Amino acid sequence: MNPELIRRATAARDAAIAPYSKFKVGAALETTNGEIFTGCNIENSSYGLTVCAERVALWKALSEGARRFDAVAVVTDSAVLSSPCGACRQLLWEYCGNISVHVHSLQGMSTEYRLAELLPNPFDDHNLKA
Ligand code: THU
Repeated sequence: MNPELIRRATAARDAAIAPYSKFKVGAALETTNGEIFTGCNIENSSYGLTVCAERVALWKALSEGARRFDAVAVVTDSAVLSSPCGACRQLLWEYCGNISVHVHSLQGMSTEYRLAELLPNPFDDHNLKA
């Protein structure tokens, strides 16, 4: 568990725009050279247009040219830990590979996974080449 990554995800969570769910999420994505990109969830009145915190961090990182990643942290304030949603797992796998996923609640719980544990038998470019 990287405390700095959790700290950055916690700070990013403060900017969440979540008037509909009231469920604020912060994410921080660390590159292999230690750079950190953060994101928060951004909701829309057309609910399906909502974007998860993980995806905001990922798009920020990729659009700034980052390509190699070590870890992502996700912070919520919930009684049960929240790991990335299925769509974000797929996107993280595509662009980050088998990174560490640190999940933290402001209520004091933490756990850590590898992305391959959260997305077993993934669909990716190797399927397209087979
Ligand atoms: N959310 C995230 O930001 N990340 C996740 O991995 C799960 C869900 C957001 C989307 C929506 O704004 C709110 O949490 C409730 O689903």
